[in-house]
Amino acid sequence: METVRSFIAIDIGDEMRERLDELQRKLKKVHANVRWVKLKSVHLTLAFLGDVPPEKIDPLKAALDHTCRGIRCFELKVTGTGTFGRSGHPRVIWAGIGENPDLLTLQKKISDSLLAVEVDIDRKPFFPHLTLGRVKAVDRHIPSLLKKLENYAVTDFGSISASGVELMKSDLTPRGADYAVLHSSPLS
Ligand code: 2AM
Repeated sequence: METVRSFIAIDIGDEMRERLDELQRKLKKVHANVRWVKLKSVHLTLAFLGDVPPEKIDPLKAALDHTCRGIRCFELKVTGTGTFGRSGHPRVIWAGIGENPDLLTLQKKISDSLLAVEVDIDRKPFFPHLTLGRVKAVDRHIPSLLKKLENYAVTDFGSISASGVELMKSDLTPRGADYAVLHSSPLS
């Protein structure tokens, strides 16, 4: 059987999707060469697992259930916007997540539980964000996009309730990645 390209994420909920839709609409008006993430696909990634062998999926689900059972639901603030990439050469356009010790604890516990079932994860430092778009090419519209983004650098987009984590499958297609929920683990 084939490996499953997967990651673990928090669902942001429909209300936040609507708010980010408004933001995306405004940013799209600049017509920069960006592949905008479909709103239904916007999520908060806690850990990227890459290609997981199929026999690891069930132990992984059980480990996530076990870890989440011991953690309470909490609120997260979505605030500000920013980019990854060199100055003037953005790669990723994102909305930010307010500092949150509960989120860091959850992410650490999840990472530890993955190690316990011997699933490797991307070890990059955790920088919580919601990817809104990926820059395809830095064209003449990018400076205007960056300028527009500055207007939202400290905007409060409201809160989301972290009530569970999802094991997600990511299929790469020529149109971008298609995501599907493989398993949901509720927080207590
Ligand atoms: P991104 O949004 O910053 O691109 C599914 O690909 C999710 O996993 C995305 O949210 C992506 O983050 C995140 N991710 C983290 N590390 C990744 C990697 N090495 N390759 C692909 N996606 C990664």
